[in-house]
Amino acid sequence: MTFDVYFTPAEAEASSLQSATVVVIDVIRATTSMVEAVANGASRVYPVVSAEDAVKLAQSIGREDTLLAGERKAVKIEGFDLGNSPREFGREVVEGKRLVWTTTNGTVALAAAKESGRVVACAFTNLSAVARLVARDEAVVVLCAGREGRFAVDDALCAGALVRRVAQSASSAPVLNDAARACEVLAAHIEVSADFLAGTEAGQMLEAVGLGDDVPLCAEIDRHNVVPVIREQALVASDE
Ligand code: MLT
Repeated sequence: MTFDVYFTPAEAEASSLQSATVVVIDVIRATTSMVEAVANGASRVYPVVSAEDAVKLAQSIGREDTLLAGERKAVKIEGFDLGNSPREFGREVVEGKRLVWTTTNGTVALAAAKESGRVVACAFTNLSAVARLVARDEAVVVLCAGREGRFAVDDALCAGALVRRVAQSASSAPVLNDAARACEVLAAHIEVSADFLAGTEAGQMLEAVGLGDDVPLCAEIDRHNVVPVIREQALVASDE
């Protein structure tokens, strides 16, 4: 197995994504919140890059049973039903609903991966389930969402934790690119905790806008057993 990590979507060449399983990570907070929504029964999650396109898509699939979710600068977009806080996607809100979702970085990474063999959303909250799903794949690419084109250590730490879990269950040692090796070293030396995540740039930004209480949930390893996978433009719970 080859296991490559890219720290930002722009680093990944389209050709390297085409035949691979692409694991998209945006720990704070897009993929954590999407895992929460799918685990709590959202029927389909449509990742969209722009707010305008999100509104158009929600109108075209029908506003009834569709919720608009997303943020800019971590804050809910005006006129949307929900923001991007994992605490907003409880079963009572999302069960049976379609969600059309746009975020600053996470949905951009999901869009960059859309031509790939298989695209899955990963966070600490579904780490082991993702590791199990990809453990027998020939080529795995982790696409970290990063922050506006720059490295984000929360995503890199999650990528490293995934490398370590996959290495434990794969039949032979995965062949890592340099970024994957760096993430593996990071994960070997840093314990995942709410404190560590709160100190990241993304964690500090959340604190600054009064959303610091989202961070502890983002640090909960294996809170869910679900893997959101893209099928026909939307994330749904994998049945594999
Ligand atoms: C993003 O996609 O940039 C985010 O998940 C930011 C956030 O809402 O915390």
